[in-house]
Amino acid sequence: MAKKTLNVGMIGYGFMGRAHSNAYRKVSQFFDLDHAPVLKAVAARNSDKLEPFARNWGWESTETDWRRLVDRDDIDVIDICSPNNTHHEIALAAASRGKMVLCEKPLAIDVDEAVEMVEAVEAAGVANMVWFNYRRVPAISLARQMIDEGRLGRIFHYRSTYLQDWTISEDVPLGGPTLWRLEKEVAGAGVSGDLASHSIDTAIWLNGPIESVSGMTEIFVKERPVQGSPSERKAVEIDDVCTFMARFSNGSNGTFEATRYARGRKNKNSFEVNGEKGSLYFDLENMHQLQYFNHDDPSHIQGWRTIMVTAFEHPYMKNWWVPGCVIGYEHTFINALADFLKGLESGEGTHPSFREALATQKTQEAVLDSARNSEWMTVD
Ligand SMILES: NC(=O)c1ccc[n+]([C@@H]2O[C@H](COP(=O)([O-])OP(=O)(O)OC[C@H]3O[C@@H](n4cnc5c(N)ncnc54)[C@H](O)[C@@H]3O)[C@@H](O)[C@H]2O)c1
Repeated sequence: MAKKTLNVGMIGYGFMGRAHSNAYRKVSQFFDLDHAPVLKAVAARNSDKLEPFARNWGWESTETDWRRLVDRDDIDVIDICSPNNTHHEIALAAASRGKMVLCEKPLAIDVDEAVEMVEAVEAAGVANMVWFNYRRVPAISLARQMIDEGRLGRIFHYRSTYLQDWTISEDVPLGGPTLWRLEKEVAGAGVSGDLASHSIDTAIWLNGPIESVSGMTEIFVKERPVQGSPSERKAVEIDDVCTFMARFSNGSNGTFEATRYARGRKNKNSFEVNGEKGSLYFDLENMHQLQYFNHDDPSHIQGWRTIMVTAFEHPYMKNWWVPGCVIGYEHTFINALADFLKGLESGEGTHPSFREALATQKTQEAVLDSARNSEWMTVD
């Protein structure tokens, strides 16, 4: 049977533009789906960079203004891979024209924007998803399966770190490609939005809603040169580090740490969950492994075991290679896209939806409010 086409219009050709282009190209080869994405058009402002990008990845056409892309009748889904301050306007425009909307994380600059985005996609009745791709790491999906199977029993602790080290030098500039992350007007927030948002999404998905938080942030480098204009300097207004405690609705306690100042840590996105019957530990730097401690094992052979998450019965793995052959970072986006397409086809919905990502945005914002006010904040 001929597959239904899904014409994609993507905005941005940076880091995520590459990751998503790769997903659109590969998903139909590895997953048996009714829909086949077509790389219809990509938009960004700089045509000198956009044209070679489009040729390299096989995009059929280009636009230098995202508004023209959103207005095109031949586009079914708009995929937002541009910086955080563009998400809201593009999503609202896309929804108003009846397009499905995929959006990179964090959903928005702040909760007010995020609420409007949820209202817009829900009023338009269009499918929507935020690319919290770490849910689609097979080992993290397996953790969710094991928690659902009751293997941990009652959960006591959730412990999360997201550690990088690339902004320690005072010479790292802010603003412009990639480094818009350090500029408040464009990023909205610092590591709380960039890194902790991933940790919060994973935590809520594994351990349920977060009810209240108590946070602490710091700006270690207070001023930086401006990218492209090194004689100019600008105050840093985003959080360099964000640490917080959390109370989950299921009664468990959580601790979270996100920083770009952990020398030697490149992308250490890890969590440990401690339950009455057992514990789980995951670290993205060993992303094909899940550590498991089972208290029900006979006491003389108890100990942490390493599950190599590459067997056919592990989440997503039957779509990839033979057991023992690991998959990597880029596959998490392909898995996410496959889930989105399956959700459309089955009618079971697409996750995490904008509404689900709003819960993450509210948690991030509560952490920053808590740090500012030095008090516990309830997450609305
Ligand atoms: N899911 C993840 O793990 C993950 C990882 C990295 C980034 N992100 C998110 O993806 C988004 C993009 O980040 P990135 O790392 O790809 O950034 P990037 O700087 O590498 O690329 C951004 C792209 O957006 C384009 N752009 C900027 N302003 C634009 C505008 N007004 N109109 C059209 N195009 C515009 C730029 O030209 C560039 O092509 C951000 O929201 C970021 O938080 C998510």
